[in-house]
Amino acid sequence: MEIQPVPSTQAPLELLLEADPSPDSLRGYLPRSRCYVARDGDELLGAYVLQPRGDGIVELMSIAVASTLQGQGIGSALLRHAIATAAESDARRLELGTGTFGYQLAFYQRAGFRVVAVERDYFLTHYAEPIYEDGIQHKDRLRLTLDY
Ligand SMILES: CC(C)(COP(=O)(O)OP(=O)(O)OC[C@H]1O[C@@H](n2cnc3c(N)ncnc32)[C@H](O)[C@@H]1OP(=O)(O)O)[C@@H](O)C(=O)NCCC(=O)NCCS
Repeated sequence: MEIQPVPSTQAPLELLLEADPSPDSLRGYLPRSRCYVARDGDELLGAYVLQPRGDGIVELMSIAVASTLQGQGIGSALLRHAIATAAESDARRLELGTGTFGYQLAFYQRAGFRVVAVERDYFLTHYAEPIYEDGIQHKDRLRLTLDY
């Protein structure tokens, strides 16, 4: 597997929409972000997007692995790469927002992220369509951070 930066115009939109189901939100932040793509030859395995927020803070805007390849360690490798990439840019903190339940929360906490805040009603006020997972509607968003 090779992980390489790509211009935002070449970001794999369909894949990234698995992590953030709003095309408007994705198109809004991509031009101000850096996208990294994991490939095995011609096969697209996964991708993540980092955005510098100033004052030594970088946000992981999105991370996704192709649906047929999830659960094989590719996401954890991408997350480690994202943490290292942000550190190389002299970040002092990596931040992200995620739902209040689901395997993703364990995925991030296993990598060292800590919950620092709850954004109540975030998914109700920022998305046109309701988002369901495991039959439960996502309403609130957690902010997680990893301090270097
Ligand atoms: C989150 C994501 C990037 C993790 O990538 P991955 O390659 O599946 O991650 P890993 O294989 O390293 O596994 C991480 C853990 O999540 C679990 N997991 C991965 N996919 C899962 C799924 N669809 N359902 C339940 N658990 C899952 C794995 O079993 C593993 O847990 P374990 O170590 O206890 O077995 C990937 O599952 C994904 O793209 N999901 C859809 C998009 C998304 O939700 N992005 C994050 C938005 S906050």
